[in-house]
Amino acid sequence: MFCHDLDKLGIGICKFESIVIFVHGLIPGDLAEVTCTYKKGNLWYAELNKLINKSIYRREPPCKVFNDCGGCSLQQIDYKYQVQIKNKSLLDNLQRIGSLTNLPAINSISSSQIYNYRNKAIIPVRANKQTGIISGYYRPGSHEIVNIENCPVIYEDLNSVFITIKSIINNKGLKADPDSIEKGYLRHIVLKQAYYTGEIQVGFISGHPLNDEFNSIAIELSRNFPQIVSIVNNIQPLNTNKIFGITTNVLYGREYIFELFCNLKFIIGIQTFFQVNIKEAQRAIDLIRKDVKANVTTNKVIDAYSGIGTISLPVSSLGIEVIGIEQNNDSYNYSLINKANNSLNSVEFIHGDVQNHLIDLLSSSDYLIVDPPRKGLSEKVLKTIITKKPKHISYLSCNSATLSRDLKILCNHNLYFLRSIYTFDFFPQTTHLESLVFLSLTTS
Ligand SMILES: C[S@@+](CC[C@H](N)C(=O)[O-])C[C@H]1O[C@@H](n2cnc3c(N)ncnc32)[C@H](O)[C@@H]1O
Repeated sequence: MFCHDLDKLGIGICKFESIVIFVHGLIPGDLAEVTCTYKKGNLWYAELNKLINKSIYRREPPCKVFNDCGGCSLQQIDYKYQVQIKNKSLLDNLQRIGSLTNLPAINSISSSQIYNYRNKAIIPVRANKQTGIISGYYRPGSHEIVNIENCPVIYEDLNSVFITIKSIINNKGLKADPDSIEKGYLRHIVLKQAYYTGEIQVGFISGHPLNDEFNSIAIELSRNFPQIVSIVNNIQPLNTNKIFGITTNVLYGREYIFELFCNLKFIIGIQTFFQVNIKEAQRAIDLIRKDVKANVTTNKVIDAYSGIGTISLPVSSLGIEVIGIEQNNDSYNYSLINKANNSLNSVEFIHGDVQNHLIDLLSSSDYLIVDPPRKGLSEKVLKTIITKKPKHISYLSCNSATLSRDLKILCNHNLYFLRSIYTFDFFPQTTHLESLVFLSLTTS
C-alpha cells in the first residue's frame, strides 16, 4: 500500500483502487504491507505490518514514547515537509470548505525552534500504591495516560520541574487521578514558564483544596528551582473536560508570572490564555501592527477575543486607540493590570461576550482584529461583521477548518477579499498551524 497523504490527525491515507484506507504510522511516500482491520462507512482502517520502502521524508523521532503518546504526531517527518503538509491542508480547507478561488500565495513562516518551543504543559496524573505515578499525555483516542519522563517540545526547565514533582509525589505515596473529584486526589499538573524572564509557575489541579502536604511540596520545589515564583492550587470540583475551576489558592509566591512580549510587560496566570510559542507569536503580532498602522483610518481598532491584551497592548503602543473584548474573568482582570503596568492609556477592555458588544463598537471603528478560540466566529458575530462592514479585518486562527468556514461567509458575493495569507508554525511536530489572514472590503 502506498501512502500519499495525511489526515488532520497525522494518520496516513492510502488508496487501493477507489477505496480509501487510513493507516496509523504511515507518512506520505511510504510503501507498506498492511492488514485491513475494520470498515466505517466507505472508509477502511488498517494496521501497519511492515515498511517495504521508507519515505524520503522519514526521520527518527527523538521522543521515546512517540508511538504511544498523542501529544505530537508528526515527529517522524522531516520538519520542512511538516510545514508543507500543514500549508497544503490550509489551502485544501480554504478551497473545499471556504469555496475560495484566486487565493493569494501563502506566506509561510516556519518556527525558529522546532523542539523545546512550548512555554506550557497541562499533564494529567494518576498515582496509587499499586502502580506508583503515571503522568503524561493521553494515548490517541483513549483515556489511557502514557507515562513520560521528558517531553521534547516543552522548555527544558519545565521538564526538570516535572520530573522532580513526579518523584516527590511518588516518594510521598500521594493519590492522583485526573477523573477523581474526591478529597486528597491530585488531577493535573500545569507548568508555565516565561521565556524572557525565566519565571516558572506550577499549578496543581484538584477537586478539593489540597492538604498541607502540598504546602511543604511547594517549599521543596521553590528551594530546588529558584525560577519558580508561583505555585498555585486550582480547584475544579466538576467532573467535566474543563481542566480549570474558578477558585485558585496560592501555595507559594505570587498568583502569576511576568513575561515580556513585544517589548511590553505581561502577567500570566494559571488559567489565562497565552500564546505557547512566544517567539513566533511575536512575529504574527508584528505583522498585525504593521497592517493596522498602514490601513486604519478611524484611529480606532477593535480587538475581539483579546485575552490578557497580547494584541491590544502592542497595537495601542503605536498610539492607536484599541478596544479589547474578553469573556474570561481572569484574562479580563489581567488585561487591566497589563494595561496599567505598561502605562498605556489608549486601550480599553470590555468584559463580556464578543457577540454582545461588537455591533456597537463597530460603529466607530473601521479595523477589526479577531483571534477566536478553535470553534471560530459565531453566526451572530459573522452577521454583525456583514452588517457593520469594517473596512479591514485581521483574522488570526488556530483552526483552518473554522477559519475557512467563516471566510466563506465573509467573502460571499465578493463582500470581502483576501489581501494576504500568512502561516506561522506555532506548533512544530504537531498537525496544528496558526494562520493569519488580512481581509478588506471589496469596495474600500
Ligand atoms: C485564542 S485566544 C486569544 C487571546 C489573545 N488574542 C492572545 O493572543 O493571547 C481566544 C480568547 O477568546 C476568549 N473568548 C472565547 N470566547 C469568547 C467570547 N464569546 N467572547 C469574548 N471572549 C471570548 C478566550 O477566553 C480567550 O482568551
